[in-house]
Amino acid sequence: FTVNWDASAAQKGGWDSYMDKEIHEDPKAVADTLLGRFGPEGELNLDELRIDPEDIRQVDKIIIVACGTASYAGMVAKYAIEHWVRIPVEVELAHEFRYRDPILTSRTLVVAISQSGETMDTLMALRHAREQGSRVLAICNTQGSTIPRESDAVLYTHAGPEIAVASTKAFVAQIVAAYLLGLYLAQVKGTLFRDEIHQTVDSLRAMPSKIEWVLDTQADTVERTASSLVDAKSFLFLGRHVGYPVAMEGALKLKEIAYTFTEGFAAGELKHGPIALVEPGEPIVVIVPSARGRGTLHKKVVSAIEEVKARGAFVIAVAEQGDPDAEEYADVVFWRPACPTLLSPLVDVVPLQLFALDMAKSKDLDVDKPRNLAKSVTVE
Ligand code: G6P
Repeated sequence: FTVNWDASAAQKGGWDSYMDKEIHEDPKAVADTLLGRFGPEGELNLDELRIDPEDIRQVDKIIIVACGTASYAGMVAKYAIEHWVRIPVEVELAHEFRYRDPILTSRTLVVAISQSGETMDTLMALRHAREQGSRVLAICNTQGSTIPRESDAVLYTHAGPEIAVASTKAFVAQIVAAYLLGLYLAQVKGTLFRDEIHQTVDSLRAMPSKIEWVLDTQADTVERTASSLVDAKSFLFLGRHVGYPVAMEGALKLKEIAYTFTEGFAAGELKHGPIALVEPGEPIVVIVPSARGRGTLHKKVVSAIEEVKARGAFVIAVAEQGDPDAEEYADVVFWRPACPTLLSPLVDVVPLQLFALDMAKSKDLDVDKPRNLAKSVTVE
């Protein structure tokens, strides 16, 4: 009798790597982070925050501090919170924060986002904010870690333990927690009607099955595309609005685990510099916004695709199902099911996580333990 699996394979639940397993846990990370956060009337119930609603009403500015992937979750949060709550939100890399003498008052809410809760740069930023008299709220995935312990309040993400160095399911969970915070602030400050909050919550609840759809239907296209581009020397990623942080995160994932040179940027910047890099065959990943609602942005991103296509680029679009322009202009499309624009990062990042994973596998790299990187960086 032989046992042909080992303990680590068992922990990977049958997947080749933790990263594989964790990407496939994206839907559950989203669903679990939503669980138990609503009262009987569907209202947001974040008593766990331990911040008095009166203090929340006083908040007139939010500064999000984070590093790496968590900082891109923070960028997504900025779009949503400013739209829903109508107060300014800044996003700052935690290591830059205290050295520029930021303006902090008792009405500033600093939000520290961290999967591990142990990132020293983020911890030092939150300590600085508290010394200056601001309140700090942690969005964190690790119960009892240092960052939530040293914060005034905490909103835990429920992604479960994340083992692979490159963050995946924790990212989508961080975005969900930030949406919950934004909707809660809107509820307390009265900047959204109850119905608007309910509708957004319903849309959020539908996201796990949309992510599932992407995993089930797009993985083959993603894998084929990755194996055809394995020798590419560099990739550009571009997006606008909430597609911008998704482009940054897609670029970061590919750099981290496939060691490919990547650059992510806002699509509007293309003409201000990056277009000089476009040579025939250059792979460019473009996050295309929905043509519904913010239709003008869709047109602008499609024209960016035309610009790079005219210079011979190989375009991979992430676009809404049935988008005829994506079909016409892109060489490959990773489809997303229709969803509200502000929530689209939850689905758009998924094919990019898979893409980085497949590229790294095609290069025979250790996807869970990329060289030179640590899961949690506990030095400044
Ligand atoms: C390290 C990890 C990244 C992570 C960043 C922030 O650089 O390699 O994957 O995004 O730290 O980590 P945190 O635990 O604070 O979210």
